[in-house]
Amino acid sequence: MRATAIAQPNIALIKYWGKRDSTRNLPAVGSISITLRDLFTKMSVQLDAELASDVLYVNDERDDGMLPRISACLDEVIGRSRMRARVDSVCNFPIAAGLASSASAFAATTLAAAGAADLHLDTQRLASLAGRASGSAARSLYGGFVELANKGNDIAMTVLCDADSWPLSVVVAVTESVPKAVGSSEAMEISRKTSPFYANWVERQPEDLDVARNAILERDFRQLAIIAEHNCLKMHSVMWASRPPTMFWNAATMACLQTVRKLQGDGCSVFFTIDAGPQVKAVCLPGDAETVHAALAATPGVTEVLVSALGAAARLVDPR
Ligand code: DP6
Repeated sequence: MRATAIAQPNIALIKYWGKRDSTRNLPAVGSISITLRDLFTKMSVQLDAELASDVLYVNDERDDGMLPRISACLDEVIGRSRMRARVDSVCNFPIAAGLASSASAFAATTLAAAGAADLHLDTQRLASLAGRASGSAARSLYGGFVELANKGNDIAMTVLCDADSWPLSVVVAVTESVPKAVGSSEAMEISRKTSPFYANWVERQPEDLDVARNAILERDFRQLAIIAEHNCLKMHSVMWASRPPTMFWNAATMACLQTVRKLQGDGCSVFFTIDAGPQVKAVCLPGDAETVHAALAATPGVTEVLVSALGAAARLVDPR
């Protein structure tokens, strides 16, 4: 009746932006991500016949804001007539500020819920269920380089390369740690309905996926860098051109991009990517991580720098 799971956030190199079915939360485009090792969310689900309603604690504090999405995720995995649950979440990085906290939270919740209800589901099925709660969460069920493709009324997952086969470092420059004003689901719908670039974004995504997939299979850092930066800037252009515009960047976000350009000019193997928030993630070869860390830490407006290697799949752990 109780299970605990740990999942790491993932960072998309080819982005999921837009839904083809918002009721079932199916993405409009495929995506490719890397799962991180050093940031994590731990979720414990305790099913309890005595409870009248679900309750959620995040880092030991009651959190009613996130509760409806967690309850909906438990319903998806276990079924609506399930026992109510106490869910405890521990997270070692800022929540809801564009650091993919929902990806690790829902991946861990899905796995822990299945464990608590003693359901033996394969990883592809768990990914589909996690994806219903948050599209990017499906990818955190796997480690390393992960591709999410659309398949009929579902998604299909592939691990392109595991974390040890191509060790990269991710340096996260935090520029603001308050929760974002607009959630990704809402911003995606605004993009879909109003951005003049949206149709082109969806249409051209297969090309970007092909280039990135080949770069990963060939361990071609330069090709991956070019396509990942392009795809990231294209996604933000879709948002900037929507009505109302969605702008997640701040001045420090831009300053970090300039720092990355300077590092590239100095010969560092590094590229940037940015999600639905103002943080900049710099992906680099491990030998360049220290230089990238120092340069981003010295960039005006950066409040904190986190470094992570690539990590493994979500997993059940001892509840204690
Ligand atoms: C910019 O997975 O948070 O990080 O399915 O609506 O919960 P929902 O969206 P979410 O969106 C992630 C958007 C992104 C790109 C990515 O991770 O692929």
